[in-house]
Amino acid sequence: MKAYMINKTDRAIQNLMNLYFTASEEKALTEAIGLGILNPNSAEVLNIIASTTFKQGTTTNCLKFYDRALKIQPNLAEAHNNMGFVSSSLNDFASACDSFKRAIILNPNYEEAFNNYGLALSIIGQQDNAVSCFKMSLYAYPDFFDALINLGIALTEIGREEEAIPCFQKLLKSRYQDDRIHHNFGIALYKVGKYKDAEKQFIFSKLNKSKYYLLRCQFLRGDQKLFHTTLDKLIQNNEVHPMLGSLCDRASQRFAIKRKNPFCENPIENFEKIDLTKKYNFEMEFVTPVSKILNNRKLSFKRQKLLKNGRQTDGNLFLKYRKTLSGIQSILEKEIEFYRQNSFRSQQYFIKKWPEEFKLLGWLITMENYGKLAPHIHDEGWLSGCLYINVPPKESPTSGNLVVCLDDDGYSLNPDKNTKRIIHVKTGDLCLFPASLLHYTIPFRSKEQRIVLAFDVVPS
Ligand SMILES: [Fe+2]
Repeated sequence: MKAYMINKTDRAIQNLMNLYFTASEEKALTEAIGLGILNPNSAEVLNIIASTTFKQGTTTNCLKFYDRALKIQPNLAEAHNNMGFVSSSLNDFASACDSFKRAIILNPNYEEAFNNYGLALSIIGQQDNAVSCFKMSLYAYPDFFDALINLGIALTEIGREEEAIPCFQKLLKSRYQDDRIHHNFGIALYKVGKYKDAEKQFIFSKLNKSKYYLLRCQFLRGDQKLFHTTLDKLIQNNEVHPMLGSLCDRASQRFAIKRKNPFCENPIENFEKIDLTKKYNFEMEFVTPVSKILNNRKLSFKRQKLLKNGRQTDGNLFLKYRKTLSGIQSILEKEIEFYRQNSFRSQQYFIKKWPEEFKLLGWLITMENYGKLAPHIHDEGWLSGCLYINVPPKESPTSGNLVVCLDDDGYSLNPDKNTKRIIHVKTGDLCLFPASLLHYTIPFRSKEQRIVLAFDVVPS
């Protein structure tokens, strides 16, 4: 019987919760503050005031309210979960993880907290742990849409597509209709080479990026007619995207049909190499912070099918090691700005349509003896970069060098005609190039590690 005994304040809180989810933030906040005046010691009311304040965009104020709520009721799992959410939005993932863990300890069936914890772990590159969190969230609430789609995305990210596919199939059968299901299902199918099935999902999705993946699948299947129909439609719509630019270049090599590139005409000419050792104390400003990261035992790595005898870190290092990399980040931002301002490339679409806001996404690639990296582009980037932290001594003039090319050598109809360039790289070089440009590494032989900080300018 006790469970049905709801007092006046409980009812008021329930009404307030309904307002929070349905009414405008202003109305919910006014009501919450009114209820707060009547119940100054109600942690639940303070929690709602904090959440509504956050919705309005005043983060500092909202943290004060959460603090007050937790001083009154330290075991309020919702407030810990919400605080974690705020910390995540401020890119403070260490605090976010602590808050989510606390919420989970207090309520082991808290599906939201498990899901949020999984997302935070996924962003900082702990995908395996993220997968466990999403599974725990689903254990608590099997029909939780967010946890199921996040599980599918995380499994795809770490190369466990065969496990991800049933997640998306289950979502398609559910009552949820969301373009993200089709897009991410398409990505999982594309990654296992089921291009035709992937195309169907990309067609269903209304997300912009799905169109580029659709084009890529049509290209990889070698369906020239469909490929050119889609390509021409995208060009007519004035779409500017590195995947589109890359596929345009690759099709010009493979199918010998030329279109004006809607991202960057001649990306090889827009490749730039800068010797940072002439401008900076490279050892102190670059090698020392990167070595500090590499020596961190908690550093996590992801599966990278293109990489042989090497390892790639997981997550965005500029977020995970913000303080350690702050010096490198500001130097890179300066060099990126020089690159962008160069009048030589001012008429290229990727410069004209340069993202108003962007973030840097960074990861480390370490390679051992005989290490190599197969041709690829960075799908998320706008401008890509490689910073050579250590290049071992060369046993031949080209060993360990970077190659930029318009298409994979094996497929290209005319591999030597200005479609490929071998870039001699040494410790201290910074390379910047349009994200549409394919690139790979020539294998090398050395007892020394080859260390590269790779990064992308990613539109926000
Ligand atoms: Fe790369």
